[in-house]
Amino acid sequence: MIDVLPGGLTARHPVEGDHPQVLAVLDEWWGGLKGAAGVLERSLLLPRLYFQHFTTTSFLVEREGVQVGGRQGDGGDVAAFLVGFLSQTELDAAYVHFVGVDPRLHGQGIGRALYRAFFALARSHGRRYVHCITSPQNTASQSFHTRLGFTASGVKPDYDGPGLDRVTFSIDLAAR
Ligand SMILES: CC(C)(COP(=O)(O)OP(=O)(O)OC[C@H]1O[C@@H](n2cnc3c(N)ncnc32)[C@H](O)[C@@H]1OP(=O)(O)O)[C@@H](O)C(=O)NCCC(=O)NCCS
Repeated sequence: MIDVLPGGLTARHPVEGDHPQVLAVLDEWWGGLKGAAGVLERSLLLPRLYFQHFTTTSFLVEREGVQVGGRQGDGGDVAAFLVGFLSQTELDAAYVHFVGVDPRLHGQGIGRALYRAFFALARSHGRRYVHCITSPQNTASQSFHTRLGFTASGVKPDYDGPGLDRVTFSIDLAAR
């Protein structure tokens, strides 16, 4: 599914039972970005529906042989995830909604591998563009997406609602 992961990690599509495990890592992985407001924002950005209705276009990476959740399908020891989907409105586009890598595993190409897998999936469904957004405060995410070849917008004030500024990113898969 994802062929270039560091040893000891495996990838699969998530299932509904993974939802609590993924929610549980958000605050640590985002380093408390934006304080209490950020905690609430992130939990609301990842409701259970993503683990019900968007599983076949999303990926979960876990440590092999470690099942913290206690049984297969519980998410185990989550090492990274990407939640994405094919746009229902723009038939040439796909969208990455949320991505995270365990901080202890940063800089090993896992984020890039997740995006490569999503690009391949998008292409296989005839999608040419991939879009995503991040908050202006998340400079690591902005550097990461730029390194991957995304084009960034400037800061768009109130993009997601009052006080919720965003930077948008797009990539043309046909140009790569
Ligand atoms: C952003 C994130 C997903 C990157 O994951 P990662 O596995 O560490 O990234 P990779 O190792 O695949 O890096 C891919 C490229 O991005 C660059 N990059 C990654 N993080 C970077 C950072 N903080 N600053 C600058 N460049 C960075 C790498 O140098 C690499 O470039 P290269 O291949 O040309 O050397 C990870 O830092 C993360 O989970 N952050 C917290 C959650 C988050 O902000 N998610 C994104 C917003 S929803």
